[in-house]
Amino acid sequence: MLELKVDLNERSYPIFIGEHLLSDEGRLKQYVGQSRPVIITNTTIAPLYLDTLLAVFDAQAPLHFVIPDGEQYKSLEWFEKISAFLLEHNCGRDTCLIALGGGVVGDLTGFVAACYQRGVPFIQIPTTLLSQVDSSVGGKTAVNHPLGKNMIGAFYQPKAVFIDTKTLDTLPAREFAAGMAEVIKYALIYDAAFLDTLAELHSELSTLNTQSLQQVIYKCCAIKAEIVAKDETEAGLRALLNLGHTFGHAIEAEMGYGNWLHGEAVAAGMMIAANLACQRGALNADEVEKIRDVIALYQLPTEAPSEMTGEQFLMHMRKDKKNKQGKIRFILPTQLGQCTLVDDVSDETVVTLIGR
Ligand code: NAD
Ligand code: GLY
Repeated sequence: MLELKVDLNERSYPIFIGEHLLSDEGRLKQYVGQSRPVIITNTTIAPLYLDTLLAVFDAQAPLHFVIPDGEQYKSLEWFEKISAFLLEHNCGRDTCLIALGGGVVGDLTGFVAACYQRGVPFIQIPTTLLSQVDSSVGGKTAVNHPLGKNMIGAFYQPKAVFIDTKTLDTLPAREFAAGMAEVIKYALIYDAAFLDTLAELHSELSTLNTQSLQQVIYKCCAIKAEIVAKDETEAGLRALLNLGHTFGHAIEAEMGYGNWLHGEAVAAGMMIAANLACQRGALNADEVEKIRDVIALYQLPTEAPSEMTGEQFLMHMRKDKKNKQGKIRFILPTQLGQCTLVDDVSDETVVTLIGR
């Protein structure tokens, strides 16, 4: 088992990465404590993993709440339903919530934990690659609003993150690939050599080789932990984790959530950002090709949807949370393995870049 720490003074917490952590009774109980835990999960994950986790806490009479599967349930409506469930069961401030699932369950559970009785402890048990390398770490919790994704939320850190890589055995291949987009993102923002590692490890990762998976997940969590420790609430540095997301969110919104998975849209978004960086002289054509090759290797899109125009991108990007003083802010590579925030890209440049 591998272990690392997110260093946030009194809110520091460990990330454990290993196999069968879902049944690691000693360690789970150490972080959940003695009071009654409440497991939040969804209809896809419950039949696969809920019983294993319930068995760990058998003596504490654990409760569980199962939400339907889908991004649309990361909503105020389901926030309210979970809160009502907790109240109906007289859950007090010592209740520990356990998020068992992907980023949807993790973000929703974290936001309930942040608000219920002004804050109760919670544990993340992420079960998608995306949530294991990104959303379970760093304390961004949120629900969607009809007018915007992740628009209502809080920074609220978990007490611990348990990454059980065995759960990836049941993850659909397309979801695994979407998680790889966020993995590639870490290489592009922080470590060029990691891009070579990802190319080399392709067959091991695709066949879920335990050692390679854990090594890669550890690397991603270590990068994220370092960034979050320096800039928990995204005053600056943390925004780099949004490489590919400005264009990616526009693709998700325009194409309809779920039609393009988040990671697929981020992959295409990273390629658009790389092309833009090349135009600005920060990357050369060989480096752009290298990025394209790794993204394509993991069966991810390397182009914007053919039906989307530059104007459509701009329309969505004007609502981006990173924008300041009406200017769209982009994360762009300055070289392989390094990125920066820029706000001087003209609308005409975006339209020319998209090519329609
Ligand atoms: P998800 O939670 O919707 O999970 C994807 C699908 O995989 C779902 O159908 C789910 O039921 C299924 N699934 C999950 N684990 C499984 C397993 N082990 N076996 C079989 N099926 C499994 O999506 P996601 O990609 O994990 O997360 C996306 C969400 O995360 C979005 O809401 C996004 O906004 C959020 N997000 C948050 C952060 C953050 O920092 N908080 C970062 C990135 C993304
Ligand atoms: N997923 C981006 C962040 O956590 O900041």
